[in-house]
Order: sequence, then C-alpha cells, then structure tokens
Amino acid sequence: MRLLMTASLCVLATAFAIPAGAAPADKTIELTVDTAKPGATIDRHIFGQFAEQLGHGIYDGIWVGKDSSIPNTRGIRNDVVAALKAIKVPNVRWPGGCYADSYHWRDGVGAKRTTRVNTAWGNVVDSNAFGTDEYMDFIAQIGSEAYVSLDVGAGTVAEAQDWMEYMTADQPTTLAQERAANGHPAPYRVAMMGIGNESWDCGGLMTPDEYTAELRRYARFVGSYNSKQPTLKIAVGPGTEDTAWTEAVMKTWKERRGWSFDIQGLSLHSYTVYDGWPPHMPGTGFDESAYAHVLKETLKMGPLIDKQSAVMDKYDPDKKIALVVDEWGAWLAPTPGSNPAFLMQENSQRDAIIAALNINIFSRRADRVRMANIAQMINVLQAMILTDGPKMVLTPTYHVFKMYVPFQGATFIPVTYDANSYVHGDTTLPRLDAIAAKGVDGKIWLSLTNLDPNASLVVDAAALGFKAKSATGQTLSAPKVDSINTFEHPDVVTPKPISGKLKNGAVVLTLPPASVTVVSLEP
Ligand code: AHR
Repeated sequence: MRLLMTASLCVLATAFAIPAGAAPADKTIELTVDTAKPGATIDRHIFGQFAEQLGHGIYDGIWVGKDSSIPNTRGIRNDVVAALKAIKVPNVRWPGGCYADSYHWRDGVGAKRTTRVNTAWGNVVDSNAFGTDEYMDFIAQIGSEAYVSLDVGAGTVAEAQDWMEYMTADQPTTLAQERAANGHPAPYRVAMMGIGNESWDCGGLMTPDEYTAELRRYARFVGSYNSKQPTLKIAVGPGTEDTAWTEAVMKTWKERRGWSFDIQGLSLHSYTVYDGWPPHMPGTGFDESAYAHVLKETLKMGPLIDKQSAVMDKYDPDKKIALVVDEWGAWLAPTPGSNPAFLMQENSQRDAIIAALNINIFSRRADRVRMANIAQMINVLQAMILTDGPKMVLTPTYHVFKMYVPFQGATFIPVTYDANSYVHGDTTLPRLDAIAAKGVDGKIWLSLTNLDPNASLVVDAAALGFKAKSATGQTLSAPKVDSINTFEHPDVVTPKPISGKLKNGAVVLTLPPASVTVVSLEP
C-alpha cells in the first residue's frame, strides 16, 4: 500500500500531497526518555530572532510610523507585537547582517534623521525612522533583549564606543543626556553585541589575521558603560566547514593577557540552501526529491557544529565561549514578483520541519550552542510573520517556535530510539527526529518530527523514572508539504491538539506524515 502510494506520488512534477489518512509506516518506533540522566540547559536564547534593515523586515513589518492607520504603539505595529510576545522571543539581533557593517547609529537618533541609500540591500532609501530608540522600544514591547551588531566594516572603534555609551551609560554623561533628551533617561540594557558580521565576506573580506586584529581592539575598547549591566561580546565566526577562522579567533582569545580583551561567544552562520548558490528552491511547487534533498542539507548543521566545536574545545575545554548560530534557516528562491534584493520567500510545512530539525540539533548540543537567531523575523527569508499593509499572517515556522516555548530554559534529557528510515530515490533520512527536556514548569516535554511525507508514524514513548499515563500537546501537519498560510487563508497550517494513551507500559502517539509534534507526558 505504502509502496504504491510512494510510486504514484513520485510522478507528480509539482508539490506532492500528503495522503489524507496516510497508512502508518510498517514499523512502530519505540522511544525511551531517560529522566535520570539530565543534560545541559537548553538556553532560551537559541530561540532568538534576527531583524535586519532589509526589504520589508523592519519597515512595514515592524515600523509603520505613528501616523499610520495600521494600529500601532509609537509607530510599532500592535498585531506583530502581540504575535511575537506569544512566542517569547528572547533576543532580537539588529540592525544586520551585511547592513550592520555600514550602519551609522547617529543617522537614526533624534528629531532629524539622516536618510541613506541601503547599499547592502537593493539600494533603496533608508529613512532611518527606525533607529536605536525605536529598536529598544520594540524589544521592550515584545519583552525581549537587545543584541546589536557593531559596524566594524565602515565604522570605527570610537563610533562604536559612542553608540554603546548612548545606549548603556547610567551616569550623566553627554551621550546619556542626549539619550534622555530623546525620551529615554534610563539606560538601556544591551545584553549582547556582535563584533562585526561575516567579516570574511560582506563585512570587509578580511583574512583571519585582519579580523583578529580588529577583534582585539573592538573587544577591548567597546562594551557596556553600566557596570551593573554588562554586555556579552560575540566575535565573528565561520560560515563554512573550514575551521581556519575558528582556529584564528580561538587562538587569539587563548593568548589574551591581563587587561586585554575577552569574548563570550563565537558566531556561526549556516543557511539551508538546496542544490547550490544562488538559492533557487521554490517556496512552493517543489517535488518530493527536492523535499528530501533539502532536509538532508539542513541536517548537515549537526556535523558542521560538531566540526567547529571540536576546534573550540581545543582552546576552550570548559566551554566558556558559546557557539552562537546567529544566522540560520532556509534560504529559498524569492517570492515570484518580489524584489529579489528584499529576500522575501514563501514559508511552507517543509520549512516548519526544517525549523524543528535545527532546533533539535541545537538542543542536543546545548552545552556549547547557547544562542541562535533564525533569519529573519518578519517578511525576510524563513520568517515567523508576513505582512502586507494592514494584513498579517503567521507562517508554519512561527507555529513551531510557539510549540517549542516549553523548551526555553528546559533541561535536556536523552532519548533513545531507532529512527527508522525515510528513503526517497538516492536520499535516505531518519524517519523520526526526537528530543526531550524537563521544562521550567517541571513537565517532561517531547518533540517528535516525522520527516516521512508518505506515512504516519506510530511512536511508543516510555519514560524511565517517570510514570506517564498519557501525552497531550499539539501537532503541526498540512494537506501538502508545500502548504502555506496566506492572508486569505491564514489557517491552512496551524497546530491541532494531539494526545496519546498508555498501552503496554508506553504512551502511544500517531504522528501525521511530515509533521512536528510537541507533547508533555502526563502522570
Ligand atoms: O540574512 C541575510 C544576509 O545573509 C545577512 O545580511 C548576511 O549576514 C548573510 O549573508
């Protein structure tokens, strides 16, 4: 039956439908959660977001201006704020990205803003109406923390110092008074600062030695001006499997002395791109072969992190420095008809699965991966939210982030299972991808992703050291793997309740094809 279904689906040139009421895969998967062996804390910061001054990411997506007919608070749209509050965004990286390395903060403060050409993204005019104070207002409205990227490319150490002093000084310096005159007497907290962005590419095409020379100066002389609220410093890290950059930064850090610099994080950028650069996998209308290949690509995040972490371990066995995956996600072909420089793309059930697989990869490595930022939050790349004028829609990726909220700050718990295989053509993938954690609410949470688009999956989940009688939660599945939510039909892909009952000592759950499920085990 399953073979017949798979064969008939393969001949479809366009997106393949997930068969309604698909037959379960021939084999039940037995999964054991070992509550007696807790692992590292899954830092809530791995659920961070990235919002660059790019396309409609900030303008229209967040900022509509105080005089807009779109309901807003001090120019920031209320619908977007409400949606983001619900997913408990821990931090927002801003203003870039490549944009950050030519951003001059003074253009975006005070009554009179300096308009500029956004040379990183489309050469459109950037009004700078959304600047530092608006960003801080935005993150306060959504209950998040600040992660700013310093301009190392076109800027100077002195400019970065001034920006940090403007934001963080808690004493009445000239810059703190300027901030007060702009409406914010209290110092802002800048939780994290990035020292440049992709300095090996758009950030200045530097060699590792050129970058580490900049790093020593920026990390030594730029930081918080409020001793009660220090800022964590994150160095530019690698963007490929090559480890030369990581070696150089970690060696430089290891050799620091006395009053010299320190860092607390090393960045890693890795996008899921199907079949080479430039990104050309369509947002919708792809076939099963492309689906299987892109999932295989995304699973490379695990070995990539392991390779770079091994170098970090050599210099930093105590794991003082976090690996910060501050750009990740699917990078697809632009939405037809959109400006390609605005990086707009459709977001389907496939992307929900990509999100879950990556979050699971980070969670399994929670001792080193303590922060991550999906690219990007609104209207850009693998977004949580799409807007069009007054309209707003939540993507399947948004729903994954919401379902995973109980994993924020949870304690990782090992799970054992035989993942089984989903095979399509020359691609073999695990059929199941699962993680477990003990939430801050004291509950045992399980996330189960069925990668197989052709068959539902029966999982028998048993917890050692915990008497579970049932499991309840939500599952995210869709009529088709390329199903999307649109402004007209916003609820095509939304989580539905799921529950499992005790049978022969294990809680039995049936996972729909190509789905993401999050449940808590109930006593
Ligand atoms: O997220 C889009 C771009 O991708 C960022 O600006 C850059 O850092 C990366 O190359």
